[in-house]
Amino acid sequence: MLAKDLREKFIRFFEKKGHKIVPSSSLIPDDKTVLLTSAGMQQFIPYLSGEKDVLADYNSRHLASVQKCFRTDDIDEVGDDTHHTFFEMLGNWSIGEDSKDGYFKEGAIKLALDFFINEIGLDKDRFWITIFKGGDKIPKDQESFNLWQKYGISSDRIKEFGSKDNFWGPTAKVGPCGPCSEIHYDRGEEYGCKDPLCGPNCVKCKRFVELWNLVFMEYMLTDDGSYIKLPQRNVDTGIGFERLLALLNNKDSAYETDLFIPIIKELESISKGRCQDNKKNFRIIADHIRGAVFLTADGVFPSNVESGYILRRIIRRAVRFGRIINMPYNFLIPLAVKVIENYNKEHPELMRKKTDILTLIQNEEEKFEKTLERGLKEFKSQIKNSKSKLISSKLAFNLYQSYGFPFELTKELAEEEGFKIDEESFKQELKKHQEISRKGAERKFGGIGKEADSYEAVKLHTATHLLHQALRDILGKDIRQMGSDITSERLRFDFSYPQKMTEEQIKKVEDIVNQKIKEGLKVDKKEMPFKEALDWGALAFFKEKYPQNVSVYSIGSFSKEVCAGPHVERTSELGDFKIIKEESSSKGVRRIRAVLK
Ligand code: SER
Repeated sequence: MLAKDLREKFIRFFEKKGHKIVPSSSLIPDDKTVLLTSAGMQQFIPYLSGEKDVLADYNSRHLASVQKCFRTDDIDEVGDDTHHTFFEMLGNWSIGEDSKDGYFKEGAIKLALDFFINEIGLDKDRFWITIFKGGDKIPKDQESFNLWQKYGISSDRIKEFGSKDNFWGPTAKVGPCGPCSEIHYDRGEEYGCKDPLCGPNCVKCKRFVELWNLVFMEYMLTDDGSYIKLPQRNVDTGIGFERLLALLNNKDSAYETDLFIPIIKELESISKGRCQDNKKNFRIIADHIRGAVFLTADGVFPSNVESGYILRRIIRRAVRFGRIINMPYNFLIPLAVKVIENYNKEHPELMRKKTDILTLIQNEEEKFEKTLERGLKEFKSQIKNSKSKLISSKLAFNLYQSYGFPFELTKELAEEEGFKIDEESFKQELKKHQEISRKGAERKFGGIGKEADSYEAVKLHTATHLLHQALRDILGKDIRQMGSDITSERLRFDFSYPQKMTEEQIKKVEDIVNQKIKEGLKVDKKEMPFKEALDWGALAFFKEKYPQNVSVYSIGSFSKEVCAGPHVERTSELGDFKIIKEESSSKGVRRIRAVLK
């Protein structure tokens, strides 16, 4: 079965069963306390917790989706048969069962069995079920046990597990959660181990595949660690799409399905057959490039913080695994093109953002290819002379700072050589250096710097904020400030954008800025915690270097930016704005020079 047919079958089935099909949400979740979307339920949290009314927004209690997800917990295991960073999750929800049309445990179990058995033809006699055995605060889920039996699963194939396996959520520190019940599939004795206790969740073999997680969400974990009952009961389910697809195709792994075959074939062709034995490296690279394409498509930009760091890590990790098997330089781009082609039907955003995706990935790849080899040499020479089997935090920091090695990469290298590495001391080293550079960085990027502290420069500084917002309006929200330099004569503004601006675009940007100057908008300053500033929608350029509390300058309702100032009081003070040059600054980065007359 092809990937697209399985997605289609799932969606049609749940549509037929009265579910509203909701498009996948972005990999960047609304909930700013988590970095990336890791489950289908994330976009529905306000409805699951009862904070928002699902009927008002979706006109249905029953929802289903195919959700883009990203998890890094098992990144070290990517390359085996079953682990991925990016994956898709098929899910259905019943939100608020206490109305006449909602469903809870029984409805969820019936739907799951119906889909698996009647719709895609799985063999019921191979199903094994797990249920929650109860814990300190939450009782055993006997009701699910009884229901599975009622629908034909014999009691010896229903196993009990604790919270680690059968209590799900929340995704953040607080949030909706509950006991869960899973359907596992027995692939047959030939996949099994000899352990007499072998069964679902066996860690010694791959005989049992966990296919569908049904969460019965009736609790909320609160700040103080207690579970309170939600105002309503919900069902939240999730199927690992990759796993199910592999199983339906009688394959051990999704890497052997049409989700990955074109990418792996491209890898084989780029490597000119030199490295056919490197199945694992191929898989790691294929997984990471797929993840990188989806992250960049959703607006993640490689950086040293938060989701940007995750993106940087997987791109650089792919480059390193490529290096090990002598892939040529710039090998990621043709792979990224394959991912876009392969997923474009279901995810049209990939084709729309193709130029941006390719530019970002290529820049990051090239940047790292330049330093990787030298960094590896440095690493090797240092460990050769090392008497202890410990990587010093200085070396780890040097590799990070001078050669762009994410800490996790150095850790992998260390482990491969039988060395240990202490993450805590690395973090301390990093913090020390960040603190030293913080003030300088704030002056350089967050404000205009003392040397240019004239009224002319202050005006140009406010004009820079107007320019930044106008560029976003005309070129799209994905442009990012890459640098700014102001003298008393002119402003210079660098931003990420893959091609030359047209004359028309330049004119439009100029017109917007001049219009905002004419409107005489008031410039306001507010102090707030950095996180709040981001939630409020303020633009921030140099995220990692900002202190906890920041000032946000807003210009009317047109622009909001985290900034150290100073600024004029009203835009009418600025005069005429003129762009005098638009040019390339470096690959994927444009530079504008502008003046006020
Ligand atoms: N939220 C649950 C999971 O991610 C079910 O969708 O497994």
